[in-house]
Amino acid sequence: MTGRLEGRAALVIGGARGIGGGIATRFAAEGAQVAIADLEDAEGKALAAELGGFYRRTDVSDGAEADAAVAEVVDRFGKIDILVQNAGIYPWTLIEDTSAEEWHKVLGVNLGGCFLATKAAVKHMKTQGYGRIVLTSSITGPRVTSPGHGHYSASKAGINGFIRSAAIEFAGYGVTVNGIEPGNILTEGMKAHRSAEFIKDMESAIPVGRMGTPADIAAAALFLASEEAEFITGTTIVVDGGQIL
Ligand code: NAI
Repeated sequence: MTGRLEGRAALVIGGARGIGGGIATRFAAEGAQVAIADLEDAEGKALAAELGGFYRRTDVSDGAEADAAVAEVVDRFGKIDILVQNAGIYPWTLIEDTSAEEWHKVLGVNLGGCFLATKAAVKHMKTQGYGRIVLTSSITGPRVTSPGHGHYSASKAGINGFIRSAAIEFAGYGVTVNGIEPGNILTEGMKAHRSAEFIKDMESAIPVGRMGTPADIAAAALFLASEEAEFITGTTIVVDGGQIL
């Protein structure tokens, strides 16, 4: 059986582990050539080698680094059909305790990274007349929130606004721009930043009765990144096991 991304060239930023690792793995299984850009060199290199692609150390909040990652994909794969910008950080800090530096850092990686990566990739996609851009948003910000997530919520709600505007700008060039809003997904980052108690409470708050997995998000990313999703642009898919209902 042919994979759903056969012949496609993909870049997954924030793809060394967690949700991005799940996306990179699924894309490769569906026949895509996959490049991983991240700051976790050891995990990124190991996964890229396993998937038959390559790894490039990239801080997505730096425009020159985002440009260089995209350029290497075009150089090595001959094109870039799919961009996933999934890199994100989620510190927990109450607004009164948040320094301007931390605010700018969260906005710079989560939201700025989506802008910089999209800007870097879209010029190639427009020339090709084909592109699929998938950005990782969150239910936190656009749909729900809680104390301690001021910067994070602003960054993720911002991604949804960016998606809509970018979708209109690129719609005439065969380039779609969409996002995914994950609910609570059990990843390395989640385990590092949230207590075991939080994770247990969360499991009982999710109607489906479990935390999500990177594979759950990868399934949605695969659809948005596929040719079949041609008529879908400027929107997001919530993948949360019913949590926001
Ligand atoms: P994670 O921490 O396990 O993985 C994130 C990856 O992004 C890491 O490999 C990290 O090194 C990389 N990264 C961080 N800053 C970077 C930068 N400046 N440049 C390049 N790479 C960078 O996190 P997880 O849980 O897999 O989250 C992935 C995305 O999904 C994030 O955008 C997060 O906000 C979002 N998300 C996660 C949820 C969850 O429950 N885990 C829920 C909703 C959204």
